[in-house]
Amino acid sequence: MNQPAFDPSAQQDELDLDALWLPFTHNRLFKKQPRLVDRAAGMYYHTPDGRRLLDGLSGLWCSNAGHRHPKIVAAVKAQLDELDYAVAFQVGHPKAFALASRLAALAPEPLNHVFFANSGSEACDTALKIALAYHKARGDGGRYRLIGREKGYHGVGFGGISVGGIAPNRKAFAGALLPGVDHLRHTVDPARMAFSRGQPAWGAHLAEDLERLVALHDASTIAAVIVEPMQGSAGVIVPPIGYLERLREICDAHGILLIFDEVITGFGRLGHWFGAERVGVTPDIVTFAKGVTSGVVPLGGVVVSDTVHEAFMHGPEHLLELFHGYTYSGHPLACAAGLATLEVYEGEGLFARALGLEPVLERVVHSLREEPNVVDIRNFGLAAAVELAPRAGAAGLRGMEVFQHCFERGVMLRCTGDIIALGPACIAQASEIEAMGEALRDALRAVA
Ligand SMILES: Cc1ncc(COP(=O)(O)O)c(C=O)c1O
Repeated sequence: MNQPAFDPSAQQDELDLDALWLPFTHNRLFKKQPRLVDRAAGMYYHTPDGRRLLDGLSGLWCSNAGHRHPKIVAAVKAQLDELDYAVAFQVGHPKAFALASRLAALAPEPLNHVFFANSGSEACDTALKIALAYHKARGDGGRYRLIGREKGYHGVGFGGISVGGIAPNRKAFAGALLPGVDHLRHTVDPARMAFSRGQPAWGAHLAEDLERLVALHDASTIAAVIVEPMQGSAGVIVPPIGYLERLREICDAHGILLIFDEVITGFGRLGHWFGAERVGVTPDIVTFAKGVTSGVVPLGGVVVSDTVHEAFMHGPEHLLELFHGYTYSGHPLACAAGLATLEVYEGEGLFARALGLEPVLERVVHSLREEPNVVDIRNFGLAAAVELAPRAGAAGLRGMEVFQHCFERGVMLRCTGDIIALGPACIAQASEIEAMGEALRDALRAVA
């Protein structure tokens, strides 16, 4: 790309960097060499020093319709002229109902009831709380255990990190994690599945690990199992063929609710409204966030089945059915953004487009197999990861170097440790996906 060279000092002109504590960031390193963006459109970010950055991860897996889509921007602007905030408890506004009914129609049957939150973390904690309260409402309150999975990411609330399985996210908070939580083993086995294209053929039997936990704890104590249909944050870990189907069967056999955390896999990432459609397995509760508004306004939530919802709708009508909610549940701006975003996805056929781009991404990432230090490559939908061997004694350093190299050359990817993730928006051109691959190839060679 023809543009000025990366110059970190030009990024921070007259900006006080001290006060802001950035999330999931090496703050001290960042402030020595800041990376700022101040504008975005379509597939590109722009930096204050006039550089253009190809967005290789749809923001943080959220800008699935690209940045600043004019129809979504217009809807949010119009909403501001109409209603800024509506009281969320005991009062409603039309767009919250409209968006809920749209989402209920789009989610697989019988997921027909929507509860709004504001983020993926809140969506996950909401799902876990509804699962516990569901059993209690049915007079089965002995079901208090929650089962997550190793390498799972369900946000950063105490519920989410308790069922989550990414060790560094839990370590400092170990003393305050939820009791009664256990984890399924993860599904990664490089000897048997490295360099799989799409869903690995090996590994369905790993779902039997749930039977082990049932035998250990007794089904009568287990409320729910929560998994991402495809683990995103841990580095695009794709479910083996048959694995999720088997989890569903085991949950059904033991009266355990199955929660799919679809914060990443929803809204086109796997070429459908929900990843559940793609994998052909319907959970009892699905979480969503990110792509529901293409990242334009924060919004999250859950869609629950008729059975789950029905369990709450008993008892005296003057009593609350669920002691849970957020000041900003169903915020008018978020709902306006959500309604417009769903229209864009449908009207522009963006999920068909995503499915069409999937083989391009697959070809591009797997062409990196022979590059230095590549130990695995995975892809599913518009998500892919290239896993690198760590530098001796410095896990994560090589990944960071590759990320920085790409950034300096005008492509923003994401590194989680030594795994480089790609997640182009559904609007990407094939040539832009090729450009992401070439930037990564270049970086792999440069930092070898
Ligand atoms: C599967 C999953 N669940 C939950 C979250 C948390 O979402 P948020 O950062 O909006 O709280 C994420 C974020 O990446 C996610 O990938």
